Amino acid sequence: MTTRIARTTLTALALACIATVGHAQQGKLKVGLMLPFSGTYAALGVAIENGFKLRVEEQGGKLGGREIEYIKVDDESDPAKATDNVNKLIKRDNVDVIVGTVHSGVAMAMAKAAKESGTVLIVPNAGADAVTGPMCAQNIFRSSFSNWQPAYAMGEVAAKQGKKTAMTLTWKYAAGDESVNGFKEGFEKGGGKVVKQLTVPFPNVEFQALLTEIAAAKPDAVYSFFAGGGAVKFVKDYAAAGLNKNIPLYGPGFLTDGTLDAQGESAQGMLTTLHYADGLNTPRDISFRTAYAKMFKLQPDVYAVQGYDAAQMLAIGLAATKGDISKKAEFAGAIEKAKIDSPRGAFTIGKSHNPVQDIYLRKVEGKENKMVNVAIKGLADPARGCKL
Ligand code: BEZ
Repeated sequence: MTTRIARTTLTALALACIATVGHAQQGKLKVGLMLPFSGTYAALGVAIENGFKLRVEEQGGKLGGREIEYIKVDDESDPAKATDNVNKLIKRDNVDVIVGTVHSGVAMAMAKAAKESGTVLIVPNAGADAVTGPMCAQNIFRSSFSNWQPAYAMGEVAAKQGKKTAMTLTWKYAAGDESVNGFKEGFEKGGGKVVKQLTVPFPNVEFQALLTEIAAAKPDAVYSFFAGGGAVKFVKDYAAAGLNKNIPLYGPGFLTDGTLDAQGESAQGMLTTLHYADGLNTPRDISFRTAYAKMFKLQPDVYAVQGYDAAQMLAIGLAATKGDISKKAEFAGAIEKAKIDSPRGAFTIGKSHNPVQDIYLRKVEGKENKMVNVAIKGLADPARGCKL
């Protein structure tokens, strides 16, 4: 009897040892955070990192049973440096997963490298339509949006408000171009007409000549894509030129998210569309906001939510593979089947690996992008060109 108990105890001990060795062999999960920590999008990069780390902390510092090691790269929102930067993470640092980035041009270089190497990539902001379009892949996911999604919704809203003509003004790169295309699609379907498309090079913030052109043309509305520091300057310049009194300025919510402290009076009353808003008042959003404010002494914005959800998606994939991220099909399958319990409201991941989500209409009131209503429920990106 004593011998049998001893044998059972020994077997249990051996199994525990094997399990421990298994985890130890897997070691830490190396997460490459490739984000902008300088330049016009620096605050966006910080919010994404904060959101990601908050979720990891909530899970006791581990995802899928593995401790997390971070390797950070400041991509400077510079597409010219993107391939070198991402290859350092993949080839020199041997990361298990890359989380990044904000700028669409940089994200496309990252998606190309991820597709070639098979490294898992989770995009926590950049909306480049191509990433979940022609470049879509089993190992590439997005926790944010496609540039088309909030823009198309704003086009519908502007048409429903009876606007007939609109001019657009954006930065000249993939995000600006695709945002304008999405707005045009929604607006013209509703009977409106985009009469002129104006651009400035990224990250230029000299708007005066173009604002004078808009004042002379007197369209019913203006639609603009800017974000971060550039959005602060643009919204202030638009109001300083007196344009906001007669020509409403519409945009995707990046125009006023995380920027209202700096924009102050100039942003009041603006309508934007986005997959997050203030005043959702759901228990999930309230608990997220409380935890974020406690950890960082800051209020979260959409970028923080996207970082947080990138960690949630990674956790779902790792839980299904017991921490083994090399099991690509199982990892992807788990995320594809999941309902992600996001502060923005639960969402799913479509076949092209882009969120299928509600797009809110928001109005700036004081320092908040207050939810007005759901502009489009469960909006999926058309994923044009994705063959998965
Ligand atoms: C983009 O480049 O895709 C982007 C940058 C900032 C905010 C939203 C989108």
